[in-house]
Amino acid sequence: MMSNKELLNYAYQAREHAYAPYSEFLVGAALLSTSGAVYLGCNVENASYGGTICAERVAFTKAISEGERSFVKIAVVTAEGRPIVPCGMCLQFMSEFGDLAVVTEEGERKLSAYLPYAFGKDFF
Ligand code: THU
Repeated sequence: MMSNKELLNYAYQAREHAYAPYSEFLVGAALLSTSGAVYLGCNVENASYGGTICAERVAFTKAISEGERSFVKIAVVTAEGRPIVPCGMCLQFMSEFGDLAVVTEEGERKLSAYLPYAFGKDFF
C-alpha cells in the first residue's frame, strides 16, 4: 500500500500542471485506486469562472473514465506548508464513490468526517 507521504508527493507533481491564472491558487491531487493505480489531477480554471474544475474532480473523472470504480485515498495539496480542505462540491462528488480517506499535509481523515450527512442514492 502506498504511503501517504508518497501520495502527497504525487499530488505536488500534479500541482505543477495547475491552470489557475485567475485565482493563482494552485492545487494538485493524487487518487489511489484499489487496483494500485494513481490518477493525478490539477485545478483547471476558466475565464467564465464557473467553468472551473477542481483538482479532486479532475483526478476522479480521469480515473472513472479509465474504468476505475473503487478508491482507497486521495491526497490534496496546495503550496507547501499551507492547509487545504476540499470544497463542498468535491466532497459531494467524491462521496458518490465511497468513504475514502482524504490525505493532506495536516494528516488523514475519512471523507465522512468532512461530510457526515452526505446526500446519496440511499435517499432515492
Ligand atoms: N480548488 C481546488 O482545485 N481544490 C480544492 O480543494 C479547493 C479549490 C481550486 C478551484 C479554483 O481553481 C481555486 O482552487 C480557487 O478556489
